Amino acid sequence: MDLVQNTLNALQETFHPAAPPRVFSAPGRVNLIGEHTDYNDGFVLPAAINFRTVVAAALRPDTLVEVFAVDMDDTDTFDLAKPITPSSGHQWANYVRGMIKVLLAEGHNLRGLSLAISGDIPTGTGLSSSASLEMALGHTFLQMSGLPVDGVSLALAGQNAENNFVGVQCGIMDQFVSALGQKDHALLIDCRTLDYSAVPIPADTAIVIVDSGVKRGLVDSEYNARRQQCQSAAAFFGVPALRDVDMATFAAREHELPPVLRQRARHVISENERTLAAADALKANDLIAFGQLMNESHRSMRDDFEITTPEIDTLTSIMQSVPNVYGARMTGGGFGGCCVALAPNSAVPELTAAVDNLYPQKSCCYHATVYQCHASAGAGELIIENVVS
Ligand code: GLA
Repeated sequence: MDLVQNTLNALQETFHPAAPPRVFSAPGRVNLIGEHTDYNDGFVLPAAINFRTVVAAALRPDTLVEVFAVDMDDTDTFDLAKPITPSSGHQWANYVRGMIKVLLAEGHNLRGLSLAISGDIPTGTGLSSSASLEMALGHTFLQMSGLPVDGVSLALAGQNAENNFVGVQCGIMDQFVSALGQKDHALLIDCRTLDYSAVPIPADTAIVIVDSGVKRGLVDSEYNARRQQCQSAAAFFGVPALRDVDMATFAAREHELPPVLRQRARHVISENERTLAAADALKANDLIAFGQLMNESHRSMRDDFEITTPEIDTLTSIMQSVPNVYGARMTGGGFGGCCVALAPNSAVPELTAAVDNLYPQKSCCYHATVYQCHASAGAGELIIENVVS
């Protein structure tokens, strides 16, 4: 059944709300280029994708929030009028509680709601199902409470909830593009100023996301270690963030850095330059140049930032070797998850066949899942036609 209708049905059947329901949604994301640059105040170029989290909501007469997580078959209840504390048993519920706690702390006067939540973003694959949940909830609570939504503020609230309530030290990219993504466009985001611009993706170009089947391991500890190494490298150059170091400055002093910090800094500094160059290439419709930058980004993540795995490297090589594919790279935080390729639509069948045939052999038995995606709009309310009453 349709995701939206299914979520609406779940709301009705679970809570029998008296008030009429409304539906909100927010997309997952894929990052085309600009990896581990967001928390270095740098540049990223992600797109929102056509996989999303849907929230069906109805007003309650009191200050309670009751939530049914359809895909987990689990519920949570808390009171907006009492201190909101982390849930010990239900990790998913902490995204809900954390987001609401941050919005309340910002002074928003939120109403009590009955909610059903469901989504089709493959979880645990690095396509930002959690950011999309936060952004969908933000729209739900603000709009149901009659309050305006500002996408940048909402993204910051989501990041705040992750950092300070859930305990994940993420940057701003995932929430930002989930909130502000645009149909058929990638978003070039300056993660220091939070300025952004939409760059069109040509109509005959496919965004192909391939889930490697490698569950993302070590993600938190390695992610935090990378953040610290980047901070140490920035301190060495005497600047607030690696965003402030260019390649010439780096080249003049790189020999003074310990090898690991040198590698980490080289990735971030070069990745910032590649991301800006890639946005220019996309604007100029030069997909060949864009693809080469994706390939270089992968090399840099593999050799300098050391966040890929052997299977991810194998999968990326397979994707890059398919005729007419512009380029491919791992996408997201690393240590497993997904790769992304940009390719003409006509190359997708061959790309899919190459992944299906070669990856299980070459990776010793992993199976990949191929998703042909398109860039989609960011979070907002969905107009529902067949509301169940
Ligand atoms: C994760 C984080 C983002 C970003 C990427 C790496 O997705 O949530 O903020 O740092 O990793 O680019």
